[in-house]
Amino acid sequence: MSKVTVVGAGNVGATAANVIALREIADEVVMIDIKEGVSEGKAMDMMQTANLLDMNTRICGVTNNYEATAGSDVVVITSGIPRKPGMTREELIGVNAGIVKQVTESVLAHSPNAIIVCVSNPMDTMTYLIHKISGLPKNRIIGMGGALDSSRFKYYLSKALDANPNEIEGFVIGGHGDTTMIPMKRYAAYRGIPASTLLPAETLDKVAADTMVGGATLTKLLGTSAWYAPGAATAEVVEAILHDQKCMIPCSALLEGEYGEKDLCIGVPCILGKNGIEKIVEIDLNEEEKALFAKSAEAVHKTNAALPL
Ligand code: LAC
Repeated sequence: MSKVTVVGAGNVGATAANVIALREIADEVVMIDIKEGVSEGKAMDMMQTANLLDMNTRICGVTNNYEATAGSDVVVITSGIPRKPGMTREELIGVNAGIVKQVTESVLAHSPNAIIVCVSNPMDTMTYLIHKISGLPKNRIIGMGGALDSSRFKYYLSKALDANPNEIEGFVIGGHGDTTMIPMKRYAAYRGIPASTLLPAETLDKVAADTMVGGATLTKLLGTSAWYAPGAATAEVVEAILHDQKCMIPCSALLEGEYGEKDLCIGVPCILGKNGIEKIVEIDLNEEEKALFAKSAEAVHKTNAALPL
């Protein structure tokens, strides 16, 4: 029996729960929210698709009742306010830090052995906050951003190459911010063929630039932050853990010297399995990438400094 709790039944949380259930990644999904009725209603709506979509995962929704989340293997935290058009993720820190702190304490009181997947923004800083307040081993706290940013990178690459997104390889490291993420152009590939040999440099630069503001582009179109890809990226991370897939997925991890950084959470390629982050993969960065990573880390440190710790 595997159990996942999703805290926050907003667009991202509910989409994550729905994808986890549709793909039967867990046996049981609990959605919890502070808004009366919202998680109950969304859970009931999803359960009414069970017979239509041949879904065997059980989903339930509760209002602020953490007892229902007890014994979860994985807890996904999506709580907090999303950004509005024109806002950066970093501007959410004041409100969201208080919420994420309270949620972390509540979930761990009932699921002391859970692996935590942080989705709340600013994501790297919220992941770091969870480390600071929980004292959990570093493998059990994972920030989801890199999975999402990598999927967006592959989307923009597929558009530029006029290719099936499933045939594209690509990943993004660094912070989950409009100016801090680092789409790894050098390692992007179409069926193993380096994208740099298939696209002019300017096109590849444009793909990277579009990826970096991928979330902001959607926020502008939608009036609030996106949810389909964030929800699906969260489900991908949860699946790698619960099914012990040993997949390499870029995630925000606590660094202790890797990539020359320490005392911060930032996106790096991680091997995810039943123990959460089982390994941080240190890939070779060239001088330009090293400089970008150092700059990104500096920006994340700066955001972390605003935490009420
Ligand atoms: C985004 C938000 C979820 O990138 O950070 O869409």
